[in-house]
Amino acid sequence: MKIIRTIREMQEWSDAKRRAGATIAVVPTMGYLHEGHLSLIDTARKNGADTVIVTIFVNPTQFGPNEDFACYPRDFEHDSRLCEEKGVDVIFAPEAQEMYPEDSSTWVVEEKLSKGLCAKTRPTHFRGVTTVVSKLFLATLPHLAVFGQKDGQQARAIKRMVRDLNFPIRIVISPLIREPDGLARSSRNKYLSEEEHRNALSIFRGLTKLKADIDSGRTDLAALLAELRASIEAAGGVVDYIEAVDAETLEPKTSVEGSMMFPVAAYFGKTRLIDNILVER
Ligand code: PAJ
Repeated sequence: MKIIRTIREMQEWSDAKRRAGATIAVVPTMGYLHEGHLSLIDTARKNGADTVIVTIFVNPTQFGPNEDFACYPRDFEHDSRLCEEKGVDVIFAPEAQEMYPEDSSTWVVEEKLSKGLCAKTRPTHFRGVTTVVSKLFLATLPHLAVFGQKDGQQARAIKRMVRDLNFPIRIVISPLIREPDGLARSSRNKYLSEEEHRNALSIFRGLTKLKADIDSGRTDLAALLAELRASIEAAGGVVDYIEAVDAETLEPKTSVEGSMMFPVAAYFGKTRLIDNILVER
């Protein structure tokens, strides 16, 4: 497995692979890898990739001024061991100066799906994501790119950006992976105390109950959302948002129909967790 630190070397490597006929997938991450990230590598292979690049870059531009950029967990050695075991071909891990020249002044902004939900409390987050993902695409030159359903809004915003800007890259959204107890896997779970972790299971339980209720015929959307909120709050969670949206366009849903996503963001202690469930009707 190769570790590449510069954009130029990454482009040359991918360019040579492409000319040799390889199908390249990129899996962009901020590192501190867990089963959720690793499942994206399997999804890449299932979707025809014979060459997989994992990018590890804690992207400063997607963190707000009072967010956890400085203390975001990092463990490059552990990450590279996991990637090696998974048969990853290259880790692309540039330094911040390599990605962002000091006088960098260009942004990629998606203006529809990047509004609402997480953007309400993190107004500059998605412009950081769409900008860095564009730059990672141009460095790694992939045929396909895999993103997780865990970050449902992010995946949709990137899909829209790729369509609107004609990136010749297929975007694959891979299922949300949970811990055995149901908590959505996240690098930020490490911030939770044991008690907060237990309490945070209320999110998964509430979402599972909501889906079961809809599957058994309930259509009272407002009451369903209120029950989900109450069950998270009863466990000590502070809800940032709970919504019912269209699974593709993220437009708010007013009735139970079609492809729905129910995204949740809630604080347990100081840690902000996100989760969601997809429901078909
Ligand atoms: P990060 O939070 O490290 O996540 C990297 C990728 O792993 C994302 O596509 C995310 O949705 C996916 N992922 C994380 N937890 C998952 C889980 N439990 N199940 C399935 N997939 C999961 O998302 C980012 O980094 C950044 O915003 C990035 C896209 C790399 C841009 O900086």
